[in-house]
Amino acid sequence: MKFAVFCSGRGSNLLALLKAYESGFLSGAEPVAVIADSHYAGALNVGREFGVYSSFVPRTAYHDNREGFEKRLLEVLAPFEVDLVVLAGFQRLLSGYFLSKFPLRVINIHPALLPSFPGSHVWAKQIDYSVKLTGATVHFVDEGVDSGPIIIQGAVPILESYDAEALSEAILTVEHRLLPQAVRWLAQGRIEVNGRKVILKDLRGSLKDKSFIYPPLD
Ligand code: GRF
Repeated sequence: MKFAVFCSGRGSNLLALLKAYESGFLSGAEPVAVIADSHYAGALNVGREFGVYSSFVPRTAYHDNREGFEKRLLEVLAPFEVDLVVLAGFQRLLSGYFLSKFPLRVINIHPALLPSFPGSHVWAKQIDYSVKLTGATVHFVDEGVDSGPIIIQGAVPILESYDAEALSEAILTVEHRLLPQAVRWLAQGRIEVNGRKVILKDLRGSLKDKSFIYPPLD
């Protein structure tokens, strides 16, 4: 299984994926292309350091022309014949036109426990709302905002001391574990999708504690 990673930022999730690939954890899923829509995206350097083809496709060059932008993305992807597109901090919504080329083959990582707090700048929003538990979600991408079927989630407590940056760091440590796991499951053909239901075949891990409470009980 060959996959591409789309990024807009520093690329720490990309780095987690590339390290997982090098360690053999991705079960044969091979990262073949990195595409960033921002010139400043550190992800381009991360991709290049690992010898993965890394390309800059400037969204700003297309202004109000999302279709033009997506056609360019597809052109860049075409020679790689990827089976999966991973959105790792990609700050753009993809249209039905793009998604129809990869049915149930585009996944995204989001820094909250969806369906709570979809969209952007969610760290400050969650602190302001004073939710006690948040986390990260890997989900299939549909035409909505962070609304596709959920593959895996991990929970993180929001400590009193956290500001948005500290919360983002705490969630990232979970993101870096979830995203490679989801790619591995897809590579192994262990994910079955039926409408909104995503079923993991051949469950291997164990659940030590079935609840996660914060603040902790006395
Ligand atoms: C992550 O928190 C991801 O969940 C969000 O954007 C951030 C990207 O971080 N969508 P990085 O570029 O992978 O370091």
